[in-house]
Amino acid sequence: MPSPIQRIKRLRDKIRRYDRLYFVEAKPEISDREYDALMTELRQLETQHPQLITANSPTQHVGGEPIIGFQTVPHSVPMLSIDNTYDQKELRAWHERILKGLGTPQVDLIVEPKIDGVAVSLQYVHGQLIQALTRGNGNSGDDITANVRMIRAIPLVLEGKRTKQQLEIRGEIYMPDRVFDDINAHRETSDKLANPRNATAGTLKQKDPRNVARGLRFAAHGRGVIDPATPETEASYLEALKQFGMPTVPFHQVSRFEELWKHIEDFEPRRSKLGFGTDGMVIKVNGFMLQEKLGATSKSPRWSIAYKYAAEQVQTRLLEIEWKVGKTGRVTPRANMEPVPLAGTTVRHASLHNANEIERKDVRLGDTVIIQKAGEIIPQVLGVVKKNRPKASRAIKPPTRCPGCHEPLVRHEEEVDIRCINPECPAQLRERLIWFVSRDQMDIEGLGTKAVAQLYDAGLVRSYGEIYGLKNQKDALIRLERMGTKKVDNMLAGIETSKSRGLARVLAGLGIRHVGSRAAQVLAECFGNIDNLIAADADELAKIDEIGPITAESLHTFLQHEAGRHVIGELKDAGVQLTETRPKKVVSDSPFAGKTIVITGTLNQFDRKQLSGHLQALGAKLTASVSKNTDLVVVGENPGSKLDKARQFHVKTIDETTLLKLLDQTSSQRPPQPPS
Ligand code: IVH
Repeated sequence: MPSPIQRIKRLRDKIRRYDRLYFVEAKPEISDREYDALMTELRQLETQHPQLITANSPTQHVGGEPIIGFQTVPHSVPMLSIDNTYDQKELRAWHERILKGLGTPQVDLIVEPKIDGVAVSLQYVHGQLIQALTRGNGNSGDDITANVRMIRAIPLVLEGKRTKQQLEIRGEIYMPDRVFDDINAHRETSDKLANPRNATAGTLKQKDPRNVARGLRFAAHGRGVIDPATPETEASYLEALKQFGMPTVPFHQVSRFEELWKHIEDFEPRRSKLGFGTDGMVIKVNGFMLQEKLGATSKSPRWSIAYKYAAEQVQTRLLEIEWKVGKTGRVTPRANMEPVPLAGTTVRHASLHNANEIERKDVRLGDTVIIQKAGEIIPQVLGVVKKNRPKASRAIKPPTRCPGCHEPLVRHEEEVDIRCINPECPAQLRERLIWFVSRDQMDIEGLGTKAVAQLYDAGLVRSYGEIYGLKNQKDALIRLERMGTKKVDNMLAGIETSKSRGLARVLAGLGIRHVGSRAAQVLAECFGNIDNLIAADADELAKIDEIGPITAESLHTFLQHEAGRHVIGELKDAGVQLTETRPKKVVSDSPFAGKTIVITGTLNQFDRKQLSGHLQALGAKLTASVSKNTDLVVVGENPGSKLDKARQFHVKTIDETTLLKLLDQTSSQRPPQPPS
């Protein structure tokens, strides 16, 4: 009879192997029933011997306690996006630029499907999953570790003996069509999810990990920080990840430019049979050194481009044009149309960009218009079917007064846009508030677009600062339609949490012209706090790398203007954090961060070297001898004189079991749970 320890180990190894065959190699060897039987046996053994449960057992893809709020964590390296093209010629031009940039006559490329999911970054320290972040605004994202741990396709431990100190894997979490259909089949018509990507994003932001859709999948396609050194090419990196048991982007191929087009064309008919969404192919320079040589712009790497397959198009009737006032006063036309299904959703509105566009495309009310989704999200009017034009079609005239405040609109000579320049225009203010609370900015839980608009219309919020005073208006809030105590409490908690998002998010949230999230991040990191920023003149601002003179001027004007000062003053008084700390490498909120730790005695449950590395990665400093500056001594068997010293200096000591528990909490943000 094997001992429980041996049996548990055997079961875990087996299950991990079958996970790998299923999720990584797509070659399952056993039936679901056989797999479930192994899981059941492991669960039973762990229930009988709870001291043997580890955070990384395959049984631990289970829900922990509900999450109160998602922490914002800076990315080690920004998560950029990719340049898109729909055009073979542009692909060729990109390739020419690459060759020129590298000074070589040819280069190995890798081509792979562009998966339609949600980008995440997974942090493995010594082979253990310790953190999962969303892309967020590219500079910092949300800590969704507890939710990601629910996903069986994402290993909690990497296979193989020689794991890296730090391995940050980036990739796509996506929802297979089958899972999406299944979820929607159980929902009311009004409550159906729009598409698998939205469904994925929604499930990853669930407050209760138990609600995370178990059927989510993952495909690795990129990297963050890897220590020590990485493989040399994309292809060998993907191969190494597979060896670690990590699912990688399928159907990737190394190719020269000459064969590239054939790969792209061959893949198109296969798309509909994959069982998950793809919207194009990503092409990358294969060699990492070459990638580095080419570098990146602030938005996207030069060594990569995405070729998008032509989007689905449909025709419908244009009923009306609504002129919308944006947060910077830009007034743009929105087409209201007869509802029509398109690429998974019912479309009612589409963008027409500006008045010029209406003229250029010769669009009239009553026309049959052709629409498609740009970037698969926002529908756009491509053109008109002229032969279907009804006799009663009417021309569209741009407004001369602001639809929000009725002040005259202006149009600068060199600009195509018409603008409202009234600084007190209520329509602009409303849009700015919506912008401020949204995901990429202050990300206020429980206060979405609709709620802000509602609060604004009810006169409860008229400035950013007033958002933070809402806690004194609880009764008025509860009395609003569709609100109630629970929603209000949730909203107020979200508002409080958002106070600590940091200066970069606040700056980006203020919607200052030309100050986007990247510029805000750079400025916040450079200046550290708002007072330093206010003290800087425009020239100083423009000297910062990545900040141009137009951005500098715009920010300077805002910060020196009375209205700008007032906004900042209000936020300061409300206790909103207007400082920024520099991005830290790995997790900083672990109980080991900043602690000086000594390990003594023989360890049974850890490899000593690995443990040291792990603790260091969590922010601890390890030293050899105990002094009064030591914070913690980890005590194994036969500890000797270091334990005596610890007692002498009253230093806290813990044994291996307690340490294991603490590490569990760190990697999963919750204590280990007996399986249900
Ligand atoms: S490579 C520097 N490869 O598309 C960016 N991205 O538009 C490197 N995506 O958010 C990303 N499939 O998450 C890469 N095979 C693939 C991808 C892929 C989907 C997503 C990615 C990113 C977005 C960029």
